[in-house]
Amino acid sequence: MGKVTPYYAPGSLSAVFYDRITNADGKLLGDEDLYADLAPTGGDVLELGAGTGRLTIGLARRGFAVCGVDISPVMLAQAEAHLAREAPEVRGRVELRQGDMTALNLKRTFGLVICPFFTLAHVPTGAAWRNTFAVAARHLSDGGLAAFHLPKLALMQGLEPPDPRRPVLDQHLGEGRALLLFVKERSFKPGVNRLEQVIEYVLADETGRIAHRSAERLTYYMTDPAPLAAAAGLVLDRPPIDLGGVGDIYVFRKGP
Ligand SMILES: C[S@@+](CC[C@H](N)C(=O)[O-])C[C@H]1O[C@@H](n2cnc3c(N)ncnc32)[C@H](O)[C@@H]1O
Repeated sequence: MGKVTPYYAPGSLSAVFYDRITNADGKLLGDEDLYADLAPTGGDVLELGAGTGRLTIGLARRGFAVCGVDISPVMLAQAEAHLAREAPEVRGRVELRQGDMTALNLKRTFGLVICPFFTLAHVPTGAAWRNTFAVAARHLSDGGLAAFHLPKLALMQGLEPPDPRRPVLDQHLGEGRALLLFVKERSFKPGVNRLEQVIEYVLADETGRIAHRSAERLTYYMTDPAPLAAAAGLVLDRPPIDLGGVGDIYVFRKGP
């Protein structure tokens, strides 16, 4: 295996194929409904780690004004491209910004802050999580909710070693081309609760020949979020909501 690049980096296939893979992922089914139910009617939503705009644009289509922030220019460029194809009234409800969720200050508040699909798990627990909870609290109006979707620690630490030769995904791209994903490496570091995986993206052409391959590192950091959120004034509002059996959505309320 050659060079390993980070997930969502410029030129990465994880960014190029993000929508295709995510849309086929049944474990995320219903997340947009759930976030829409949490949003106050007519309220504004801030999405931390908006990616390609899957939820930012989806919620805007439902009538919410949504600000989507992401650190990755290649993910945001896709979000901008999707947004350009939306009706003017949807476009008018969306603001996309490049920014770091651990240090954001937009100097305004929202009724709901969301941090979907394991985005918080991309940064180390400790200071980065504490700072992100502080960012969420800073951007919430009093009584507002913050929803963080996090991987289940017990499940992630018990994952079997991968078979690096067996694809975990094999998708037809049309005209005989295919995208295959292999988990080449997987390790879990107890104590820091860090799951590291090297995922290889392989593009095969219509003759079955490998046209392009890219090894990309996906890291998840995990811990109980409640004490870190509490330090930022965010109190668990209800028991965590299971989503797809692999993650939980933690809903916090900003106290007065
Ligand atoms: C799994 S994707 C989720 C995208 C989108 N929320 C969704 O549910 O489809 C995680 C996103 O978090 C972004 N991200 C990672 N660290 C970040 C940070 N410190 N600040 C802002 N965005 C970050 C990545 O660039 C990526 O687009």
